Amino acid sequence: MSDTQLFKPDDRNELQRVLSKMNREQLLWLGGYISAAIDFAPAVQDTYNSPIIEPAALAQTAETHNNHSSGPSSLSILYGSHSGNSKKIAQLAQKEAERLGLSATVKNMENYKARSIKDEEQILIIVSTHGEGDPPLSAQELYDKLESGKGLTLENIPFAVIALGDSSYDEFCKTGYDFHGFLKKLGGRPLRDVVALDTDFSKKLPELLPSIVKLFSGQVEAKQIHTPIKSDPGQFESDQPIDVEIIEKIQLNGRGSGKETWHIEIAADHKGLAYQPGDAIEVYANNSPELVASILQKAGLAASEMVELGAESFSIEEALLHHLELTMVTAPVVKKYAALLENNTLNRLLDDPEQLNAFLRGMDVLDLLNKYPVKLTAQLLASTLRPLAPRAYSIASS
Ligand SMILES: Cc1cc2nc3c(=O)[nH]c(=O)nc-3n(C[C@H](O)[C@H](O)[C@H](O)COP(=O)(O)O)c2cc1C
Repeated sequence: MSDTQLFKPDDRNELQRVLSKMNREQLLWLGGYISAAIDFAPAVQDTYNSPIIEPAALAQTAETHNNHSSGPSSLSILYGSHSGNSKKIAQLAQKEAERLGLSATVKNMENYKARSIKDEEQILIIVSTHGEGDPPLSAQELYDKLESGKGLTLENIPFAVIALGDSSYDEFCKTGYDFHGFLKKLGGRPLRDVVALDTDFSKKLPELLPSIVKLFSGQVEAKQIHTPIKSDPGQFESDQPIDVEIIEKIQLNGRGSGKETWHIEIAADHKGLAYQPGDAIEVYANNSPELVASILQKAGLAASEMVELGAESFSIEEALLHHLELTMVTAPVVKKYAALLENNTLNRLLDDPEQLNAFLRGMDVLDLLNKYPVKLTAQLLASTLRPLAPRAYSIASS
């Protein structure tokens, strides 16, 4: 609907006149005020013929918004990202913060001067872990400076850390935990423990992000107007994978090599696939039908038994083929599996990280079932396994 349909001509002119006189801070305040007002507005307003918000609700909106304004006023969101996930979360956090009336700025760690940190009013760090427990390249310099701490102080500056990672790695979310430690050591005031997010982070964010950002509004205990973040289509592209054709597949290792390295070419002319150097491509692979058949046989389950994964239902065969990780077993999976066993052997392994890593190396779900047989229902098996995560590959050139 256009602005001419929504507003009477006089109102539109008046609105433009008032807005044109406002400075950035006033516009930011108004942005938060309007977000709060939307919560009171009727869902559908066809034209300008009916009032947008009842006067009583408008007064309540102003009161709620002014309450927000009496707390801290700004938030710096520092992100360190390699494949873009942390950056996207930073942008969502900014929207949420502005909805709460905070002036929020998103800053890439790559261009951030460590000595500026003392001037921040509040800090939200969003950072992933790469390599083998390393910071993303773009965050390395800031990481090193904060670790050394030379000439830096945070003097009670409130902060929180969202750490992105993948629990199949030994050093799960290490960079986020490290940043938390550095900021605390420099005198910062943690508002909460590290929020460590696994590869299924996009499902958890709509609930989680508002509660984290709210910590910075100074209104934690206050009753607040709250609408969960809606995920825009395209916000997390990994939620909308597209099918592409594999046009070339060549094994690069010579005869007799124990390794498997593949050259794989995919057709990248799909209209939904836009990319540039430095982006990452996430590949969702299906599990092998032979492995799925062996697991079903070993567990004594019929392929057609139905299971629930989140809000969706699948046959156990479909869940194992397309939605659950089978080719590696992680510590959280062993923990859930151990709870199903009658003996304590696996629990003892969980207490010894070195032995556990040795045990998990090269292990798949079929190995686990063979080594520690247990009576399972289809749903128990599905709930024990980890969601099948995409593998990310950097795009080096166009
Ligand atoms: C090559 C590579 C190495 C990784 N190493 C780790 C790791 O050591 N620990 C971890 O928790 N996650 C690791 N991850 C997972 C990433 O942290 C995870 O995919 C994250 O969502 C990426 O966020 P970003 O796009 O903001 O960089 C690794 C991912 C890749 C592609």
